[in-house]
Amino acid sequence: MLENLKTEPPDPILSLIDMLRADKRPDKIDLGVGVYVDDFGRTPVMEAVKKAEKKLYGEQTSKAYVASIGDAGFTALVRELVFGEALSKTLGARMAGFQAAGGMAALRLGGEVLKRAGCESVWMGRPTWAIHAPVIGASGLAVRWHDYFDPATQTVQFDAMMSALGGAKKGEAVLLHACCHNPSGADLGIAQWRALAELVHQRGLIPFIDLAYQGLGDGIEEDVAGLRVMIEAAPEAVVAVSESKTFGLYRERTGALFLLAKDAQTAGVALSNGLVAARVAYSMPPDHGAAIVRTVLEDEAMKRSWRRELGAMRARIKSLRAVLADRAAAAGLDLESVRGQRGMFSMLSLTPEQVLTLRATHGVYMPENGRINIAGISPERIDALAEKLRQVMAR
Ligand code: LMR
Repeated sequence: MLENLKTEPPDPILSLIDMLRADKRPDKIDLGVGVYVDDFGRTPVMEAVKKAEKKLYGEQTSKAYVASIGDAGFTALVRELVFGEALSKTLGARMAGFQAAGGMAALRLGGEVLKRAGCESVWMGRPTWAIHAPVIGASGLAVRWHDYFDPATQTVQFDAMMSALGGAKKGEAVLLHACCHNPSGADLGIAQWRALAELVHQRGLIPFIDLAYQGLGDGIEEDVAGLRVMIEAAPEAVVAVSESKTFGLYRERTGALFLLAKDAQTAGVALSNGLVAARVAYSMPPDHGAAIVRTVLEDEAMKRSWRRELGAMRARIKSLRAVLADRAAAAGLDLESVRGQRGMFSMLSLTPEQVLTLRATHGVYMPENGRINIAGISPERIDALAEKLRQVMAR
């Protein structure tokens, strides 16, 4: 039967890894996959992570199964990191959570729980992460779109977003990026989060928040301020968390899903649905990444070291943003908006054809939507990059 199948197009983001590997030009520039790299183009294992791994290696006595719920200690610590001690305490047993196989699985299972609960559709802002619609849509939810960001003017279309969501039906979910919007780097301000929270709660919509870049925008606490505003007043919510970037654990598939319900009993029922969905999808999450995060967060010295290193990564991204804006200006190209955007990404106003020209002619790699990974810019190639961008964008 397999001849009935049609070839699927390559993944719009991960396929860049192979393309880049095949390009032998020494001056190629990788602004593709959302992975943090240092000035030397390496994605280092964080010091604290290395320490935690050593500790785990020495202490682990068994490889027996964990359950679908994963590492409960990890989930409790992530809960505190995301929601803060006070809010987490206030929410109490109204919020259930479990470890998931990365933020991706958390999104998929979040969609699954909503679908099982009778939710029919989820709103997403255009543009969003290329995989949001396929992964959440895979649970059977319909995707509805509102405008979010205009690459030509580099602005968040907040009014358009509010007016579209003002027409949303009770019980529909609204996908929100907690911080470091992927692909645009353009986040909502706190007043906008407040206004949005009011609208969402008033209309009986369910916030479905994706948090994948905590600590890479303005700070560990700052990056979840909007999320907390939304959750504080929410009767119900779904929050998918990834620790891929925050702890540099990409391939270890480390994430969590939190389900907020009207009371503890309902949260318990929602949790049981999430766990069944996990069991039939992948049985249980891999242990190693979660064990690392737990070990780091349990130990004051390792935690300090992790915070320091994450802070240095954040500072490097911010400074690259400023340098790119400056050098582009010197080359005669206006990239001023990149300076103030947050996190790993910005989205340039490029047509797919221009993106392909950048790849083929200049060896500059990014997904077709014009998203650039700021962390991928090496300081000694920044002038060359500004010039290449100018040549293509000025046409
Ligand atoms: C990205 O957006 O580049 C990352 O989140 C990697 C991925 O899985 O797409």
